[in-house]
Amino acid sequence: MAKIKSKYVCQNCGYETAGYLGKCPECASWGSFIEETDSSSLKKESEISIIDTTPPMKLSEIEMNKEIRISTNISEFDRVLGGGIVQGSLILIAGDPGIGKSTILLQTSGELCKESKTVLYISAEESASQVKLRAERLGVKSDNLYIYPQTNFELIKKHIEDLKPNLVIVDSIQAIYTTTIQSSAGSVSQIRECCNSLMQIAKSQNISIIVIGHVTKEGNIAGPKVLEHMVDTVIQFEGDKSKTYRILRSIKNRFGNTSEVGIFEMGGNGLTEIINPSDLFLKEYSQTQTPGSTIIVTSEGTRPLLVEIQALVGTTPYPAPRRVANGVDTSRVLQILAVLEKRIGLNLSKQDVYVNVIGGIDVNEPAADLGIALAIVTCVRDVVFDLQTAIVGEIGLSGEIRAVNHIEKRINEAKKLGFKRIIIPESNEVQENFEGIEVVKVRKILEAITRGVRSIKN
Ligand code: TYD
Ligand code: MG
Repeated sequence: MAKIKSKYVCQNCGYETAGYLGKCPECASWGSFIEETDSSSLKKESEISIIDTTPPMKLSEIEMNKEIRISTNISEFDRVLGGGIVQGSLILIAGDPGIGKSTILLQTSGELCKESKTVLYISAEESASQVKLRAERLGVKSDNLYIYPQTNFELIKKHIEDLKPNLVIVDSIQAIYTTTIQSSAGSVSQIRECCNSLMQIAKSQNISIIVIGHVTKEGNIAGPKVLEHMVDTVIQFEGDKSKTYRILRSIKNRFGNTSEVGIFEMGGNGLTEIINPSDLFLKEYSQTQTPGSTIIVTSEGTRPLLVEIQALVGTTPYPAPRRVANGVDTSRVLQILAVLEKRIGLNLSKQDVYVNVIGGIDVNEPAADLGIALAIVTCVRDVVFDLQTAIVGEIGLSGEIRAVNHIEKRINEAKKLGFKRIIIPESNEVQENFEGIEVVKVRKILEAITRGVRSIKN
């Protein structure tokens, strides 16, 4: 009898070794090795059948078969997928527990079933009645939707083959296991093996499969990075659990571009799409005419989004002044403060500075710099910034305003939302002739302030 080989596998990156190691030489994580028995080593050569279906061929001989996409009927989800679910593709949706992954996929299942598509929902974490309860809450009912509470991969595979659905949802990949590997569900080998087999099913039977994956505390997709490499599309589901909005972001897509985002709101009846997200973030702006508040046009993916930035500056009661930033990077704020002190002589050494992005959204792009700077300046000078002016621009260390991407989309979004003026970097070339919105170009931070004075009312 062949000897059963055992190996140690790093649960973080999938690195394999014959003996136990405290620290992984690949990803440098500590204590991540787990012993796994490799039963595949027991296979005799005669048992392994290799079918060569696609011999090498010339590029010119390859026939293009058109991708068939299935629309989810949820336009924000379709947009992130690049126009719908590609038939025969394997999609991973990753996100924190409780963010709404099961919810959106059950809603998607409901929508597909309305179009007479068959969906098999594998519920490996919750019982059938729990899924039914959620389905009732979401108003999902259809005889084309099959719920299968199962964790065993072999049984799952059998039912996929029997039912031949249009879409399979696996909730979640960390909860299913295959008997060909002896480690427990959720280990790197299990995830890799199950994912690999799902990929084969998807490709050989032309069935689209969406798998759910949990994210670890550090923000990685739990277990292995290998999962990301194997699938066709990786979609991240983000958002603050304490807030109602959620963002779907595509981080890898073999069938579309990766800069798209979809925005949703979580409510009592599940997730609803937010077609005009700027409205959501500007809801209360027109009523707030306070010093230290500006509107910037940020870009989520390729999508422009108007958000309000607020700054509060006041004399510090502490020995060292405090700098607190919510929704923007603190080091970015510190850099802007340094530029303001050095280039326009704003003395902030005895002042506490708080910067906040309204709505709980994270703005992680330098294009927000000028808006943040003007929020701080207007707060220090106790003036109100014109409600009708939006701002974009990155600030360089010498106080120069640098170009930003997607400028025309940003201008159009501001115009759409009824803004009369937009301050943009001089170096941004604008092709379009914008009617109904005045485009003010600035080169230096000081110029931005003096040009902005025109729009500052007392
Ligand atoms: P869920 O989809 O179960 O999250 P995940 O699968 O990512 O772990 O969603 C869980 C949260 O969403 C839970 O806290 C309750 C909330 N929720 C709503 O607010 N409204 C709803 O209609 C549903 C179904 C869930
Ligand atoms: Mg879930």
